[in-house]
Amino acid sequence: MIELGIIGGSGLKALAGFELLHQKEPSTPFGEASSPLSFGTFAGREVVFLARHGQPHHIPPHKVNYRANLWALRANGVSKVISINAVGGISGGMQPGRIVIPDQIIDYTSSRAHTFFDGDTAKVVHVDFSRPYDEGLRRILVDAVVGDGLDVRDGGTYGATQGPRLETAAEIQRMERDGCHIVGMTGMPEASLARELSLRYASIAVVANWAAGKLDEEISMAVIERNLADGMQLVQRLLMRAVPLL
Ligand code: HPA
Repeated sequence: MIELGIIGGSGLKALAGFELLHQKEPSTPFGEASSPLSFGTFAGREVVFLARHGQPHHIPPHKVNYRANLWALRANGVSKVISINAVGGISGGMQPGRIVIPDQIIDYTSSRAHTFFDGDTAKVVHVDFSRPYDEGLRRILVDAVVGDGLDVRDGGTYGATQGPRLETAAEIQRMERDGCHIVGMTGMPEASLARELSLRYASIAVVANWAAGKLDEEISMAVIERNLADGMQLVQRLLMRAVPLL
């Protein structure tokens, strides 16, 4: 069974160096996953890859079927998930191009299917979510590139917004007061659904832009795409080092 799943986000629809063995269209009690599951090898290790926004990219963050994606991974033997998330940088040091391994989340999303325990089961379940990311996986991601010249920030609070629009400057100011360091649209409910399924889960966040109001100019999609392309090269390097250790 393949233990390790990688969920690719914006800018990472496929992994360079991934050797595809076979693909499977998973069916789940929660509907269709975003993409087929791609089983293969990467950095000498068997992994399964799923493209969060579909292949090609067509599913916006608020329409991703997070429940089907995580269910499909677990049903196929996955117990550890590394999620790749594009984010905006809010606080100092979170400049575009930076790689962050977040350790906390504040959830600002609304009306997404966010639980497997919807009240139609025999028992009411409340999972502990004090530490939303798996500390063991986080440590591996942070330590894998020590001495490799790759600047990975250990920790940070991920503010998850509903999207698909970007935030207002005032919303970002509020999020900064709340303690958010980065902002993205896909971190939740993915992380809490992973916890509900007892999957070990960590995120590699790639800062694509300064968040709204941080610069005196509009956020440009062209700039986001360019920064993401550069950031994903770093993610690839990080994964090459970390995957054999995960
Ligand atoms: N806000 C929300 N999500 C994002 C951003 C942002 O500025 N950049 C990349 N994903």
